Amino acid sequence: MQFSAKKKQLLQILSDGEFHSGTTLAAQLELSRSAIWKQLNGLEALGIETIAVSGKGYRLHNAIELLDKAHIIDLLPISIRQQISVFETHDQIDSTNSHLSALAHKQPESTGVICLAEQQTAGRGRRGRQWVSPFGSNIYLSLLCQFQQGPGSLSGLSLAVGVAVIKALKKHHIEGVGLKWPNDIYWQQKKLGGILIEVSGESNGPCSAVIGLGLNLYLPEQQAMTIEQDWVDLRQISAISQQLSRNQLQATLIEQLFNVSLQYNEQSFAQYRDEWRLYDCMRGQQVSLFMGNQQIDGTVEGINDEGLLLLKTPQGQVKGFASGEVSFRR
Ligand code: BTN
Repeated sequence: MQFSAKKKQLLQILSDGEFHSGTTLAAQLELSRSAIWKQLNGLEALGIETIAVSGKGYRLHNAIELLDKAHIIDLLPISIRQQISVFETHDQIDSTNSHLSALAHKQPESTGVICLAEQQTAGRGRRGRQWVSPFGSNIYLSLLCQFQQGPGSLSGLSLAVGVAVIKALKKHHIEGVGLKWPNDIYWQQKKLGGILIEVSGESNGPCSAVIGLGLNLYLPEQQAMTIEQDWVDLRQISAISQQLSRNQLQATLIEQLFNVSLQYNEQSFAQYRDEWRLYDCMRGQQVSLFMGNQQIDGTVEGINDEGLLLLKTPQGQVKGFASGEVSFRR
């Protein structure tokens, strides 16, 4: 969904986080003061917090950098731009992954489709969890691409994507971020982001994958209250993030994700293995692995060459696991 032109214009003006008087806003938008007031209420209804101070006017609780598709495209190298078939930005959407999964279903040959959103109303995480997706402050990015292999060969893709995300963050001088098997972006045992990959297609290939990334840049406490895991956002972990451009980071992420999608097609997980191990934030940790009703406690020994989690049980056996949910035992 795209907002009305007036709502967009109002958001654009307020995005600087400064006060704007009702009279100025009314003049700029060519609306009455009461229409402005209604528009402001509309923003609140979307979870966009505004502050009104008499004599000063209105401002957003937090300045925001709105998505700027043209700017993001400008920042991409030509080689990546050539790979993009469709580039969508949405003011509001249920889920960027659901949207592209539906497209993959309707048009299985689609590839190189990017979908970004300011807000998701039904953002999805792994294992049916909700992904909290407030307006304008985080990254909600999905890429639909085709792979020559069948879905069975894509088991290491989410690990490869994790490496790509760390590389993108490093390009913006954000250090100290790690990977938690299979596809979480972690910082000091708190979740900074997550990857959700949804694959469809023939068992012998080709297949389509929707690579979804949610990355917390700034999560207002109020909105984060429903999150059950320990979470963190970039604002908390790095002073650099204050100057970080959301559009620039999205461009870097898009570039890295495209690189993964192209290289994985040729060489699969092997080329990312060593780098993944460098960023492994679980190695040596005591964890519990949950698979359905089963709980397996052990010490993480890293990943094997195929990307399986290696867990040393209290009996001293090392076993490889292809799926499951891991939590740190403190
Ligand atoms: C997880 O760690 O549980 C995965 C979270 C993935 C969230 C992203 S946000 C963009 C894309 N759209 C969704 O609905 N989910 C993914």
